[in-house]
Amino acid sequence: MRLSKPKVSIIGSGNVGSAFAFALMIRGIAREIVIVDKDKKKAAGECMDLKHGLSFTYPVTISSQGYEGCADSDIVVITAGARQKPGQTRIDLVQTNVDIFKDIISNIIKYTKDAIILVVTNPVDILTYLTLKISGLPANRVIGSGTALDTSRFRYLISEHCKVDPRNVHAYVIGEHGDTELPVWSNASIGGMKIEKYCPMCKNFGNCGHEKELEKLFDKVKNAAYEIIEAKDATSYAIALALVRITEVILRDENSVLPVSILMKDYYGINDVCLSLPAIVNRGGVERILRLELSAKEQAQFKHSAQTLKGIIKGIKF
Ligand code: LAC
Repeated sequence: MRLSKPKVSIIGSGNVGSAFAFALMIRGIAREIVIVDKDKKKAAGECMDLKHGLSFTYPVTISSQGYEGCADSDIVVITAGARQKPGQTRIDLVQTNVDIFKDIISNIIKYTKDAIILVVTNPVDILTYLTLKISGLPANRVIGSGTALDTSRFRYLISEHCKVDPRNVHAYVIGEHGDTELPVWSNASIGGMKIEKYCPMCKNFGNCGHEKELEKLFDKVKNAAYEIIEAKDATSYAIALALVRITEVILRDENSVLPVSILMKDYYGINDVCLSLPAIVNRGGVERILRLELSAKEQAQFKHSAQTLKGIIKGIKF
């Protein structure tokens, strides 16, 4: 009987790829981690540094290889590509990273067509869609990290405002992982209590302008990456932890609900574009999309997100 040795290949050993490898090693859910980077020296250096910490974590084989290292991977996580510079939007990266992705995807599918592909590189929704088109893999096995990170930022900021554990805040950011993303306030809740019911009893009550406060809070979510990039040149830790959570849900076959970027099929009439919605995720990838019931305002925002990305996809030389 072949004991399953969960294997994760990471394309790209930059800030996100190496932070993800580090967090994955600490979590102990993979038994093999392969790092692939055109900068072989950098990838080898990251691997060496990680391996020297193995006596403090769990046994895991870590190596830097060419694309042949992707063979037999359960998940291939793509973090490689140009990253946002201060003041740059994620969409500004599109043509550069589309050209890089054509090479990456064609190399990955030479060695595995059975892995789940987790796309992280920005603009992640457009690159998830491109990966789907180029790889020919089934839609449920091509997933973008999408608004998993934005949702975590959203929950954290609500938890800070309302003085509760972020794990008891149930609220989603959906749509583009980018400037057209939207908060689903209509079904946000704390411990099962709708936010608008919670606020009157909240410790902040009185000095919480509620509507205005919540708008300001979401602006912080949407602009978080710009602020962090301005301060430290790149984001890495929170996205790495989001990737570990997605990887864990897949490898442990958890059927957990995560907001990830996935191909839309007739959701409020939206098709043929990748956007984030909460989805049930397990060993096979996305099992089912939760077709949230949105308010009229949220529907309009989601459609704007979809139209924005579809417009950009039209202009791409695939
Ligand atoms: C961010 C990057 C991952 O939002 O897009 O931090």
